[in-house]
Amino acid sequence: MKFAFFDAKPYDKPSFEKYGAQYGIKFKYFETKLNEDTAELAHGYDGVCVFVNDTVNAAVIDHLYDMGVKIVALRCAGFNNVDMKHAFGKLHVVRVPAYSPYAVAEHTMAMLLTSVRRIHKGYIRTKDFNFSLAGLTGFDLHGKTVGVIGTGRIGRVFIDICRGFGMKVLAYDKFPAQGLDNGDTIRYTSLDELFRSSDIISLHCPLTDETYHVIDDTSLEKCKQGVVLLNTSRGALVDAEALLAAIKSRKVGAACLDVYEEESDFFFEDCSGHIMEDDTLARLISMPNVLVTSHQAFLTEDALENIAETTVKNIVALKENAQCANELCYRCGNTEDCKDGKCF
Ligand code: NAI
Repeated sequence: MKFAFFDAKPYDKPSFEKYGAQYGIKFKYFETKLNEDTAELAHGYDGVCVFVNDTVNAAVIDHLYDMGVKIVALRCAGFNNVDMKHAFGKLHVVRVPAYSPYAVAEHTMAMLLTSVRRIHKGYIRTKDFNFSLAGLTGFDLHGKTVGVIGTGRIGRVFIDICRGFGMKVLAYDKFPAQGLDNGDTIRYTSLDELFRSSDIISLHCPLTDETYHVIDDTSLEKCKQGVVLLNTSRGALVDAEALLAAIKSRKVGAACLDVYEEESDFFFEDCSGHIMEDDTLARLISMPNVLVTSHQAFLTEDALENIAETTVKNIVALKENAQCANELCYRCGNTEDCKDGKCF
């Protein structure tokens, strides 16, 4: 089978070449993202392999379908960039539900520690032989309360890491995990209490209509003065304008963002020689208490191997059995994997 691989980066190729060769799947790598203008590149291919910032909207789906493309292989977990309803009956959509929850959870903690211990500042200072500590005072994580929104694979690993630091956990999930709440150091609570009582808030839920801008003016208003916000999930969980205002008013003490609502125009690309067009992103990056990484949380060798292996196996499963455990299915429920693989 032949796949058009969009938004290809140098670090994607080694693992996809390895597993592609092993299972007889050929990939043609395109640096461009998939969208209405580039969908034509998939002409003659059995499927497309796409990532978080490729666009798989109704127009793209129709174009792919008309060209005889049959499979959308997402090499990520989130699928908010796919119009699942429109894809139903036209294209099989498979994803990699978990490639390394540790990669994302560990990056979240790396950002938190960097921010609250001012490591990014200290690193630059000592590079310049400036050994002054003025302005680098942080705070202990031990004993602090972290609010975790979304207690799935990544959220639970992040909770384990936080517990290792002696933090208390307030959790919120639409579907709470059995056995996680111990009535003491880890407690499920309402979103309201989580906002009011957390020193640090970390987002680990998917982007849906319900979670869109879960962090906005109203929720930030409820938060503790100086709250630290971590978002390594999806940019649109946070209203960036509201966050900026809350940073200016000192309500938010620090923000660590691996994702940004309008990231698809910039993230993963070298924009260093260009004028930054997005004023909100530019202002956020200019803040001393904001740390931005470019959707980097997944990027470990372990995760890249898992992504390639699972994606190739998803394609092989569809080819050989016409069903795949990692198929996303609108009929089963927009946010659920297909229950029996036979809806399509
Ligand atoms: P998961 O599916 O294992 O967990 C998501 C959790 O969110 C589930 O427990 C679910 O019940 C909960 N949830 C669903 N709707 C909710 C709502 N309205 N309010 C509160 N909780 C809700 O997903 P996983 O693997 O833990 O990933 C979480 C998110 O992390 C993904 O949706 C994706 O957006 C993001 N992600 C980011 C990466 C990065 O590189 N920055 C890499 C991989 C994932």
